[in-house]
Amino acid sequence: MEDNDRISRLTAEQDLMKDPPEHEPERQYYFIKRCREIVKKKSEELGRPLTACSVCFGCQMNARDSEKLTGILESVGYQKAETEEADFVIYNTCTVRENANNKVYGRLGMLHNYKKKNPAMKIALCGCMMQEPGVVQKLKESYRFVDLIFGTHNIYCFAELLCRTFESDSMTVDVWEETDQIVEKLPVERNYTFKSGVNIMYGCNNFCSYCIVPYVRGRERSREAADILEEIRGLAADGVVEVMLLGQNVNSYGKNLETPVTFAQLLREAEQIEGIRRIRFMTSHPKDLSDELIAVMRDSKKICRHLHLPLQSGSSRILKRMNRRYDKEHYLSLVEKLRAAVPDIAVTTDIIVGFPGETEEDFEETMDVVRRARFDSAFTFLYSKRTGTPAAAMEDQIPEAVAKERFDRLLKEVQQIASEKADLLTGQTLPVLAEEINRQDAHLLTGRLSNNSVVHFPGTAEMIGTIRNVKLVTCKGFYYLGELS
Ligand code: 5AD
Ligand code: SF4
Repeated sequence: MEDNDRISRLTAEQDLMKDPPEHEPERQYYFIKRCREIVKKKSEELGRPLTACSVCFGCQMNARDSEKLTGILESVGYQKAETEEADFVIYNTCTVRENANNKVYGRLGMLHNYKKKNPAMKIALCGCMMQEPGVVQKLKESYRFVDLIFGTHNIYCFAELLCRTFESDSMTVDVWEETDQIVEKLPVERNYTFKSGVNIMYGCNNFCSYCIVPYVRGRERSREAADILEEIRGLAADGVVEVMLLGQNVNSYGKNLETPVTFAQLLREAEQIEGIRRIRFMTSHPKDLSDELIAVMRDSKKICRHLHLPLQSGSSRILKRMNRRYDKEHYLSLVEKLRAAVPDIAVTTDIIVGFPGETEEDFEETMDVVRRARFDSAFTFLYSKRTGTPAAAMEDQIPEAVAKERFDRLLKEVQQIASEKADLLTGQTLPVLAEEINRQDAHLLTGRLSNNSVVHFPGTAEMIGTIRNVKLVTCKGFYYLGELS
């Protein structure tokens, strides 16, 4: 747990005989203390520790939020359970595409069966899907066994909500429309000891016409640079060597701060922090990618040689309908500029196939960009209609079979190019951050190059978290087999 001493002190300082403090984060520490007593009592009654399982769906932002949820669960006294047969289960949900929602409904059926065996079990749902109109109503009607529902804006109130759930027999629902609060300094339990996500901003103002994120995550809010840098310094002191700066659109970081700061300036500051060896960030919007940022990447020793730059479509006509505010030529010129400034950079992307009105010609434009930009890797998605977004109301939705056929063609092209590009590094020896024991073969470690490619190589657990020189012996398309050099 990050900063154990401070957390223990702040919790100990709370006086449960008094009303909860109004200020954050003190208020949450008060509820942590109250929950702790409840969990302790329940555990004494049962004669065993209580267990909790936190499951995360969706993006890196959700993954970081889940670390905060786990931080609270641990600080109130739950032991971590690896499976969902636990005393407390929380799903941090995603709603970017419809199948993300379907997955959650499916798994809730399974949780219901566990709860029949363990009636004291508590089930909580939070995250993006809960912010979507209609979802809470559906849960109230058909999933009565859920105990707690909250959204993206009040995740920092988890301890308080947990307390309310313990003290009530009915479903606790607390979903906020918006917030301008950013609450700092709550407990976090990191998934990895040596790397960490760091939120630099929340929300999104872009309203791409297909995307539900601005509706469920609210308007853009940047954290103060001083708070971000203090967090990174703390992480470095705790042994973290790689940070991933997180935001829906990191390139517009700092614009709404009282004293505006650019993302490039923030990166320059982060670069100075001793102990941090690698800096990554996610996600960049092409419309806001500045020359200043490219220069900072070029001059940096720590910023990884990787940029994820979602294209979404290669057709300028479709990009306009998507409200992306750049065109095909601008996108290609950015890739060119990046590669000229940082020759070894890997450029990866997201592409949506089957956006309303996409013709065969539009799709061919996407294929053209793929061939010209030669992406090092690409996430490809079938367009998913999200109720409430402008694209959902557009006429000429594309039949699934047509979209699927285009998707398959795109995927083939993307994979072919990615494997050709990866093969260019075969034979080189490059630094790899060893991240974990290989899941299939315990003699191997799995790590990443600066350009984000995955490398498997023989090694032992104590190397995890260190950066080693590895010779890339064989390229297997989207990963390498290597040897320590
Ligand atoms: N349908 C399909 N893909 C989508 N994405 C966002 N919204 C949708 C949607 N409605 C994709 C975009 C984005 C990624 C995170 O998810 O490509 O970059
Ligand atoms: Fe969605 Fe566009 Fe915002 Fe990304 S930039 S979260 S795609 S609205």
